[in-house]
Amino acid sequence: MTTKIETLKDALSHRHSHYAIRPEWVAPREAVEDLLGHVLQNIPSAFNSQPVRMVLLTGEAHTAHWELIEKALIGFMGQEKYEANTAPKVRQAFASGVGTILFFDVPSVTEGLQASFPAYAANFPLWAQQTQGSHQYAVWMGLDVLGFGVNLQHYIGMIDDEIKTLAGVDPSWVLTAQMPFGAPVEEVSAKEKLSLAETLIVK
Ligand SMILES: Cc1cc2nc3c(=O)[nH]c(=O)nc-3n(C[C@H](O)[C@H](O)[C@H](O)COP(=O)(O)O)c2cc1C
Repeated sequence: MTTKIETLKDALSHRHSHYAIRPEWVAPREAVEDLLGHVLQNIPSAFNSQPVRMVLLTGEAHTAHWELIEKALIGFMGQEKYEANTAPKVRQAFASGVGTILFFDVPSVTEGLQASFPAYAANFPLWAQQTQGSHQYAVWMGLDVLGFGVNLQHYIGMIDDEIKTLAGVDPSWVLTAQMPFGAPVEEVSAKEKLSLAETLIVK
């Protein structure tokens, strides 16, 4: 009998970064929407402040997002360098999927908390980032369980305003990550990890 913990551990160890994804929905779009909603409704945040927003880009919106990034990268590094270094990744691992999830932080949430709880003011920006990570990880796991190949990207701080305009979101939101997903092309194995003797203390 498979126990709940074995099921969870299997899911934990199966999630990896897929740098080869195909444009095929291995689960319905509705299942992805449902997953994102479930994550937003269940993942904890400091003081239950809920500073995370997500945008699910599919179809033309997904393509347009990566075309915008591509154009910006070519502008920054030049066509030749782009073709040599980044184009293969964009074409095989990002734009080649069926969708991208954009993650945003709402800074006014942190500002509000800092005003209400000055004693913790210095902690709130850190907790907001940790909350981003929790949401991103939960989505990554969920997409993996649905059968998608997924990776996590940070093409941020370059053309965020254009990305936000294209995505139609509040200009005050801060883009924290992109998560492209599609059909996995191959199995990905685990990377080497530090020994537990180094990373885990039990007393
Ligand atoms: C906070 C964080 C930031 C990351 N940023 C990137 C990134 O910008 N680009 C990328 O290709 N992978 C990124 N990754 C993926 C990691 O490199 C990857 O998860 C790690 O090497 C372990 O490999 P695995 O995902 O296959 O288990 C990031 C992962 C984390 C947790």
